[in-house]
Amino acid sequence: MSARPLRIAALASGRGSNLSALIAARDAGELAAEFVLVGSDKAAAGALDIAAAAGIPTLSLNPRDFPTRRDFDLELFRRVEASGADLLVLAGFMRIVDADAIAPWAGRAINVHPSLLPKYRGLHTHRRCLEAGDAEHGASVHFVTAELDGGPVIAQARIAVQPDDTEESLAQRLLREEHRLLPATVAAIASGRLTWRDAPFLDGEALREPLILATSGQLQLRHV
Ligand code: GRF
Repeated sequence: MSARPLRIAALASGRGSNLSALIAARDAGELAAEFVLVGSDKAAAGALDIAAAAGIPTLSLNPRDFPTRRDFDLELFRRVEASGADLLVLAGFMRIVDADAIAPWAGRAINVHPSLLPKYRGLHTHRRCLEAGDAEHGASVHFVTAELDGGPVIAQARIAVQPDDTEESLAQRLLREEHRLLPATVAAIASGRLTWRDAPFLDGEALREPLILATSGQLQLRHV
């Protein structure tokens, strides 16, 4: 374990259920973390209310108050840096981030995405999975790079697609897995097992394929 809890900042644009799952894991003693900031591009984001109720400092910045997207991103990420965060979690942050804003966060920022990356980057992942007739769907946590949903994948949760699944039923079932996957991944970072040395490493070994979320809630290598 590291000497002090991992300091986490999170960015979210919406309801914040993944943020809730992280806070719940911290409260359950499963995640040695301190939340230093929750920021949003949407003043009405549920995530801000969840953070405030948990006593976490919040930040709401309106992109329309900035001359360009880049100015917004640079200011937002300056504020995240100023929070003293060790790790930035994008938990439903629905914006493409400027490359110069994200560059200093290489290896220190992760995102949760509702698909088995590299499949279905971007939006409407559940619909695209159904339209493709996939037997399996899933969620991924990956390190963030300037490429949308394109950074190295750390861990994935998989679910079977049922014949009567709709976009909504699939999204709902997958969300429950996201709520286990994200805290488990952050816990692996907080404990120092998962590190970044220009690529993801687990227990000092290069991580060659995503970890799998087992039914037990543990993250496992596929071949063990
Ligand atoms: C999740 O499905 C996440 O994977 C995606 O956006 C959604 C956010 O949900 N990036 P919530 O705000 O955490 O409830």
